[in-house]
Amino acid sequence: MAAIAHPKTNFAAIPEVPEGVFTAPLKRPAHVGEDWLEPRQRDYSSDDDAIWNDLFERQMEILPGRACEAFFAGLQKLHLDRAGVPDFTRLSEQLGALTGWSVVPVPMLIPDHVFFWHLANRRFPAGNFIRSRENFDYIQEPDVFHDVFGHVPLLADPVFADYMHEYGKAGWKAMRYNRLKALGALYWYTVEFGLIQEGDGLRIYGAGILSGPREAIFALEGQSPNRIMLNVDRVMRTDYVIDDLQPTYFVIESFDDLYHQTVDRDFDRLYRSLNPGFTYANSAVIDVDDVLHRGTQEYHLRGGRGSNAEPV
Ligand SMILES: [Fe+2]
Repeated sequence: MAAIAHPKTNFAAIPEVPEGVFTAPLKRPAHVGEDWLEPRQRDYSSDDDAIWNDLFERQMEILPGRACEAFFAGLQKLHLDRAGVPDFTRLSEQLGALTGWSVVPVPMLIPDHVFFWHLANRRFPAGNFIRSRENFDYIQEPDVFHDVFGHVPLLADPVFADYMHEYGKAGWKAMRYNRLKALGALYWYTVEFGLIQEGDGLRIYGAGILSGPREAIFALEGQSPNRIMLNVDRVMRTDYVIDDLQPTYFVIESFDDLYHQTVDRDFDRLYRSLNPGFTYANSAVIDVDDVLHRGTQEYHLRGGRGSNAEPV
């Protein structure tokens, strides 16, 4: 394959999407600009604040002893608690002083290239809305609880904050190679569903697990899922499910380990060697894997979400 010329990307303005790159056809609401940012965070009702508080309380019953140290440290440093939906301006001031990140409101899921651009500028786009009581347990679109409770505490950790920054910059390279799916898998298996090895055992750092009621116990203690040490090349070739518990979780040794496994990779070479589709099924265990737990896959074999299968 011929080398692809990569002009140095300047992230001051949104870089143009390279020609021929497919981007999801999301319809931009009329009131937001090219950056997809809301002019200001919305005003929340007392019901909205009560939903935040109840979600917060429920997660705090599950997460002690299961979430990683950096998550609890972040909650504390950013004063996240049961006081209603947090104000993004206050959060951004505190986060800015710690790691240079800010939290900015967006109306909905935003296009990949805009998301990467915000990350490359150390801005974390967070959903402006909060779920309703009817959708208390499960929502498909990330809301303010998922984004702020799940993602933001870890942005107070300097190494994880740098990883997210690098990830945003890496997005542009993936787009030039048309390998966004592969980079998406890395995000999924780390930022959303990652586990970390700590002194007392496995802990959660993935926002998708931290912000939901069912997956914390399944991910750490379930017999069904595989738990495998992270290997970036392998993960970027692995399919994933977006609407059910994960058949496989990948484990890092530390955020330093995650940062270096990613930043030290020659992604040009990797993208040239990747197939357009995924090579491995989401439940696969392969020869090169460093396996901590080989799952039974019982939950998924019994039908997963939509059946009455127990998440065991
Ligand atoms: Fe997320």
